[in-house]
Amino acid sequence: MKLILASNNKNKLREFRQLTADMDVEIISQREAGCDFEVEETGTTFEENSFLKADAVTKATGIAAIADDSGLCVDALGGEPGVYSARYCPREGATDSDRYNYLLTKLENVEDRTARFVCCITCTMPNGDVLRTRGECEGYIMREPHGEGGFGYDPVFHPLCVDRGMAELSPDEKNAISHRGKALRDFIKKLNEYMEKQQCR
Ligand code: IMP
Repeated sequence: MKLILASNNKNKLREFRQLTADMDVEIISQREAGCDFEVEETGTTFEENSFLKADAVTKATGIAAIADDSGLCVDALGGEPGVYSARYCPREGATDSDRYNYLLTKLENVEDRTARFVCCITCTMPNGDVLRTRGECEGYIMREPHGEGGFGYDPVFHPLCVDRGMAELSPDEKNAISHRGKALRDFIKKLNEYMEKQQCR
């Protein structure tokens, strides 16, 4: 089965390819599939945005596509930055550290610091079938950044299930507990079941 990853992000492509290495699945990037458009993320939920991205690619190519959408939800901020995580800072050309410092400023006098990372994966099939998975990683926002690993908000996020901040974990340690790792593993399971069912038809 051929699957287009609705993204040109090399890290995501490598991760998806590793996880499907022993399956009868060939994953190609959006660019390799000849889709050089960028889908606007106009949805208000991670599910909607990942569907918009995958659906646009399947409609353009007639081939199954997968997309993910992820972000950080902070309870004291009513779920912000949520789907706006990548754009959460008023400053032009803001970097990852500008964004997490902006978040720390917003939480300066806030005691309740509970938060979670969320990742939704959607796979759209040319026959209209849709597979969806969601992974979450519960934690809290630290008072200051720790660690050099990961990306995005990792330096200020402390998962509940480990004794270090997210940016202090190795890639394998992060993958074992992260929202993306959970959603991806669940997706691979669902895709395997889907492919088995298709073969029985
Ligand atoms: P996207 O789903 O790749 O568009 O990611 C949205 C944004 O959410 C990223 O730019 C990061 O700011 C944030 N984010 C998503 N996943 C993570 C993570 O694993 N660690 C830190 N930040 C993340």
